[in-house]
Amino acid sequence: MPFLDVRSVTKQFGGIVANADITLTVGEWEIVGLIGPNGAGKTTLFNCITGVYPVNRGQIYFQGKNITKLKTHERAALGIGRSFQNLGLVRGTTVLQNLVTAQHMTAGYSVIEGMVGAPSTFAVEKELAYKADGILEFIGLSEFRDQVIDDLPYGVLKNVELGAVLATDPQLLLLDEPSSGLSPTESDQLGDILLRLREEIGVTILMIEHHVPLVVRVCDYIYVLNFGTLLTEGLPKAVQSHPEVIAAYLGGEPAGRNGAKAPKAAGKAPARTAKGKAKTAAQTAGTTPDYESPEGQSQYVPYE
Ligand SMILES: Nc1ncnc2c1ncn2[C@@H]1O[C@H](COP(=O)(O)OP(=O)(O)OP(=O)(O)O)[C@@H](O)[C@H]1O
Ligand SMILES: [Mg+2]
Repeated sequence: MPFLDVRSVTKQFGGIVANADITLTVGEWEIVGLIGPNGAGKTTLFNCITGVYPVNRGQIYFQGKNITKLKTHERAALGIGRSFQNLGLVRGTTVLQNLVTAQHMTAGYSVIEGMVGAPSTFAVEKELAYKADGILEFIGLSEFRDQVIDDLPYGVLKNVELGAVLATDPQLLLLDEPSSGLSPTESDQLGDILLRLREEIGVTILMIEHHVPLVVRVCDYIYVLNFGTLLTEGLPKAVQSHPEVIAAYLGGEPAGRNGAKAPKAAGKAPARTAKGKAKTAAQTAGTTPDYESPEGQSQYVPYE
């Protein structure tokens, strides 16, 4: 049974068919990529999966449960968390407060109560802050803990947003262009974080991403959208060398390698991951990316 099962989803906006009969699956502990040019319908599909938009046709199943008709907050409560293409953070508050606010959804009292600090919420707030600190440490943001987010560079904010989504304890993480605005080095670090999320916490990820080296490095499987339809799907290397994909999207990016493996805790490999591939020592140490990154050469796809 797929973890996420999108079956023949169609979403129209008036005469625009943003998603036409899209079928895709994400297995538990997989990291799956969703790529395609601007306007292909990627964010729309996320909005259908999370319930922001009702679908015109098709069904969406999460962990075997039909969630097609559920409300956004009901899907979130089931463990579907998402980041936004444009940052979904609360301006004027600190990094820590953003991660705490994200948890209020599941804390059992209102956001306002949490913010005004009613005595009954004090112990809970402490717990939420403790958990937020753990997440900040995990993604390497502890030094920014008490800074107001308005003062931080975009690259840091993207990771703060990832932290805020993680604070909601998602089982399925939907990431909309997590590396946009990041430097190549920051993208490498993001790749490390995503692989560790799967390996150490067992999170399943579906990510929209234009940065091909990152997609190829971390994804077990890739779906390519074009003009609202599914152009192709496959293992990263196959998709990367698919003639239409090269022509339309990749523009001769350097080849990467799919080294993804199952989370340690799970002891079970994602079904579509090439089995038995060991990480290199450098990968394990988290020091180097596993693709060539020539100085000064843009790593972003040409249509960006
Ligand atoms: N709320 C909306 N109302 C009307 N049309 C919409 C709406 N949301 C998306 N669209 C249209 O649906 C199509 C797909 O848009 P979408 O944002 O899903 O593309 P995308 O693949 O995420 O593109 P990008 O890479 O630029 O983020 C576009 O033609 C867009 O204009
Ligand atoms: Mg988009």
